[in-house]
Amino acid sequence: MKILMVGSGGREHALIKKLKESEKATKIYCAPGNGGIAKDAEIVNISAMDIDNMVKFAKDNAIDLVFVAPDDPLAAGMVDAMEKAGVRAFGPNANAAIIEASKVFSKNLMKKYNIPTAKYEVFDDPQKAISYVESENTVPVVVKADGLALGKGVIIAQTIEEAKDAIKSIMEDKQFGDSGNNIVIEEFLTGPEVSVLAFTDGKVVKPMVSSKDHKRAYDNDEGLNTGGMGTISPNPYYTDEIAKTCYDTIFLPTIKAMEKEGRPFKGCLYFGLMITPKGPKVIEYNARFGDPEAQVVLPRLKTDLVDICEAIIDEKLADIDIQWYDGATACVVMASGGYPLAYKKGLEITGLNEKGGVENAIVYHAGTKLEDNKFLTNGGRVLGVTAKGATLDEALEKAYSAVKTISFEGAHYRTDIGKTK
Ligand code: AMP
Ligand code: GLY
Repeated sequence: MKILMVGSGGREHALIKKLKESEKATKIYCAPGNGGIAKDAEIVNISAMDIDNMVKFAKDNAIDLVFVAPDDPLAAGMVDAMEKAGVRAFGPNANAAIIEASKVFSKNLMKKYNIPTAKYEVFDDPQKAISYVESENTVPVVVKADGLALGKGVIIAQTIEEAKDAIKSIMEDKQFGDSGNNIVIEEFLTGPEVSVLAFTDGKVVKPMVSSKDHKRAYDNDEGLNTGGMGTISPNPYYTDEIAKTCYDTIFLPTIKAMEKEGRPFKGCLYFGLMITPKGPKVIEYNARFGDPEAQVVLPRLKTDLVDICEAIIDEKLADIDIQWYDGATACVVMASGGYPLAYKKGLEITGLNEKGGVENAIVYHAGTKLEDNKFLTNGGRVLGVTAKGATLDEALEKAYSAVKTISFEGAHYRTDIGKTK
């Protein structure tokens, strides 16, 4: 099979390395890819949002399976366009990807179908939103832009003043553009966070092994929110009992709700959960694999990923038994100095071998480019250094020793992955 991966980050690199393990995958392309992905797939110079050219490439090259990994092209209807052109594609249609693309949609869905989530109100008028936070007078309070905002559209306001500033900057100053035309104001929840990715064909849902992201830039969960600075799998807070509750009250009801709404979700649905004192609740849905969750979940997948993708496209997920390796994985993200704010690009990375890897760990490239056989930094998150172990401690120890052999000017990574709540 000829496979085309759409996207360019560490998640896409992890997906490609897993797909390569399949005997069915004879050729893998990636558009637009990155410097490390170039060692595992043939790079195609088409932007992830260029739907017309992506479809044309898939048709011209008789691609058997297109895997759309990032949220933007999913929300923009790339899977719909592929299907219309007769190309088999993995990922939700746009009418289902809205579960991530609009927080107003997902919150209303949860309310309608009694899926546990934080209490909320929706506003399209900043003055009304401000009056609401003043009258509720409860802090912390969470202010969220409706649309996609690169993981930055969520503000946890510690004071009423901060909440008012957040409302103004999202709705009036349009900090996140049209994503902020509507906002959700919601109750602040507490408890450990868990990420659960799940395969679903729109009818059946099969959760993957759990994971935990570390979203803040610095140790002790300090600094700004990022796309994710590191992950572990399994998540120590996700017990079998909690997993069962999540399946019964969240996972299956969500799939059924989407089906009832005429928006069957096919692909990977990401449940961002918080284990609150009142039980697990949904913080957010994503319509795709998480990044860097994919980097710790996929290395534990035993079953052929190509077979799973095909079963999902054919709506036969019930027929496939998905198996996982025991043990644990840890991923430490090496980021550019300054990320998630301004950072330099084009700095040489040393310590990587010719294939872009190191001994005893898997190096997933997120923001790199290859020039004159040298790997250079080319993004905020640069590398996801991942290791497997019999235990979480062993996986962490191996990942951190690999990190210490790699360097670039200003490189920043958290030293407490797997250690915080
Ligand atoms: P989101 O983009 O919706 O995942 O939000 C980003 C992060 O903000 C989450 O991972 C949580 O850490 C935090 N967060 C979002 N909503 C809430 C909430 N209602 N209560 C507490 N923390 C939240
Ligand atoms: N790591 C969080 C996300 O992919 O949205």
